[in-house]
Amino acid sequence: MKKISILTIIFYLIYSPVFSAEVNVFSARHYDSDIQLYEKFTAKTGIKVNVVSGKAKALEKRIIEEGPDSKADLYIAADAGRLGSFKSKGMLQSGLTSEIIKSVVPLNFRTSEWVGIAKRARIFYYAPERVSDAELADLTYEGLADQKWKDRLVIRKSNNIYNQSLVASLVENNGKSATAEWAKGIVSNMARAPKGNDRAQILAVAAGEADIAVANTYYLALMLSGKKGKEQQEAAKKVKPFFPNQNNRGTHMNISGAGLVKGAPNKINAIKLVEFLLSEEAQIHIVNNTFEYPMLEGISPHPLVVNMGLDFKQDLKTEVINYEKKQADALEVMLSAGWK
Ligand SMILES: [Fe+2]
Repeated sequence: MKKISILTIIFYLIYSPVFSAEVNVFSARHYDSDIQLYEKFTAKTGIKVNVVSGKAKALEKRIIEEGPDSKADLYIAADAGRLGSFKSKGMLQSGLTSEIIKSVVPLNFRTSEWVGIAKRARIFYYAPERVSDAELADLTYEGLADQKWKDRLVIRKSNNIYNQSLVASLVENNGKSATAEWAKGIVSNMARAPKGNDRAQILAVAAGEADIAVANTYYLALMLSGKKGKEQQEAAKKVKPFFPNQNNRGTHMNISGAGLVKGAPNKINAIKLVEFLLSEEAQIHIVNNTFEYPMLEGISPHPLVVNMGLDFKQDLKTEVINYEKKQADALEVMLSAGWK
């Protein structure tokens, strides 16, 4: 008996450092391809990645409730507004400041607590047979509130974080009262009460329920790829992407990113994982599976995304930290305009 326990202790002493090399990721991203990416990281470093997947709000609630007992090291979410609001609750810590991170991620897309891993744009999709070139000329987010779009627009609900971040960027650029007026215009231009996800907006334009939709860039490519079935692939072929605000600040950009959780038990490994996600190998994997834009310069997006046009002007002027700072104002103006 005694012999066995001594052996056990020796075994533990030798192998425990190996077993303890791990990192705990709480991810609101729902991609199988992310799991493959973590496996690559483990193969390279020996650091095991434990993933807890779920909806952003549920994951945040769990980390908050578990408090100091939480095992979470990294919180991965698909919106700067989401990461920012978690930070504002005091749930992130600084530490994502390594030279690798700083050299890859532009200042606009990172803080010391969270960093962008990939980019996406929130753009328009239109039916070419019902929207003229003249209507599209110089079209902006602001211009979507114009009366000429009455009963022609689809966009999802105001509780959607992508919309909250877009509207927050308008509050930042145009002020709250101008954005409140804008939101009224948007509501009066809606072809239907908001419903469904981003792909549902593109489908509504394809089906002739509306002429123009607001949705993120990667959804069109995802539909065109056939991964969402033949019907969505055919529908996607009926719409065209349009990148707004080309003659002023550029198209609204957002990020998928990772936040370093307060009290992270494996902080060093978490930083290593973020650095890996920004590596050439990982960035190529991400853009080809999720159709996002790379954070690392020099990586080409997926060919379906390249086809949508790469020479558009991105809004790199509006700092994405404002998506959280102006989030409450954004939600307020949308709700008071009757944006469901
Ligand atoms: Fe999304």
